Amino acid sequence: MNGCELMKYAIETFDLTKKYGNFAAVDTLNMKIENKSIFGFLGPNGAGKTTTIKMLTCLIPPTSGTANVAGYDIIKYPNEVRQKIGMVPQLVSLYGDLTARENAELCADYYGLPKDLKAERIDELMELVDIKYAENKMVKQLSGGQKQKVSVVASLIHQPDILFLDEPTIGLDPTTKQVLWELIEELNSKGHTIILCSHDMYEVDLLCENVGIINQGKLAAFNTPQALKDQMMAEEKSAKRSRMSEIVSEIEKKSSPAINGTIDELKGIIVDSEKENGEYREISILINNLNDELVAKMTRLPVVFEINEHHSGRIKMDISKCDNAVNDVIWTIIKNGGNITSISTQDPSLEDVFVKVTAREKTEGE
Ligand SMILES: Nc1ncnc2c1ncn2[C@@H]1O[C@H](COP(=O)(O)OP(=O)(O)OP(=O)(O)O)[C@@H](O)[C@H]1O
Ligand SMILES: [Mg+2]
Repeated sequence: MNGCELMKYAIETFDLTKKYGNFAAVDTLNMKIENKSIFGFLGPNGAGKTTTIKMLTCLIPPTSGTANVAGYDIIKYPNEVRQKIGMVPQLVSLYGDLTARENAELCADYYGLPKDLKAERIDELMELVDIKYAENKMVKQLSGGQKQKVSVVASLIHQPDILFLDEPTIGLDPTTKQVLWELIEELNSKGHTIILCSHDMYEVDLLCENVGIINQGKLAAFNTPQALKDQMMAEEKSAKRSRMSEIVSEIEKKSSPAINGTIDELKGIIVDSEKENGEYREISILINNLNDELVAKMTRLPVVFEINEHHSGRIKMDISKCDNAVNDVIWTIIKNGGNITSISTQDPSLEDVFVKVTAREKTEGE
């Protein structure tokens, strides 16, 4: 059993910081990534993901703070760290004038693999990612996806405990993406920790046990994808609750001429409280002849809590979760001559969480 078997965290950062002049690309980052997990590292362009990865893989030194990678301090033991990690960089860094196999061999030589082991590993990995058929082609003649596969082979040649993948599926066709996703899961099931930088929320939701969202060099959110989505729902509920108490105090202040408006607001309170209990869902309907009259009819339906938006024929609304709600909405549309093209219901996605978390941090930071 090696040291990594016993470790709880594959990576732990301690106030990890990288400054370029006065600009902090990564700002006092504290993060723990569980051993043998798949971790998704998200953030807008320029947030500091690649800079973090470069520090964790000992390509650039931190300005201050440090990190343990595979149990080794990145500043004190960079060579030990390098032996434990593999890296598929954002921009593929292979030698274009060498063949796919020669590139892999070069990497094996860098890690000092004996000749017979080198050949065996290259064959095995090339078969695993399905690139053996192109082993004797020069890298400059390969497609983007094929280069990415060679890059994966080269990064795994020394069987690293931790594999960093910086946007590995960008520009890949759906089939090749799928192959890489399966490979990531397979590697993880064999005990490799995977750090996956990605802008593809579907990919992250599908593969990652934990997610970190970095924004302007700081960690803006960290949790499982599901917990992040649940947290967002809870925050929305709490915002509604505070609006409800505001309305109640407004009613208390109002005199009788304003009673009609007050009743409308009271209806709003009831609707909101029902929504607070999670008794609503968002429904999105595409109606090719949507008009204002139809929108007004739906607004008046008791099961419709709120019209969130409507344009280009698509109407999105929060409706009751009761059994007849969807029926009522659809029946009203049909009865009033609406032509429904498609219907979908939605819960918040990881993409919604990403947009919310990064937007919030931007406002707070200003
Ligand atoms: N060598 C450098 N000199 C100065 N600034 C740099 C340098 N490298 C990165 N930066 C800046 O640091 C910030 C973080 O960059 P980084 O490449 O880490 O972002 P990222 O999160 O990987 O973005 P993307 O999603 O676009 O890949 C950016 O504002 C970038 O301009
Ligand atoms: Mg990057």
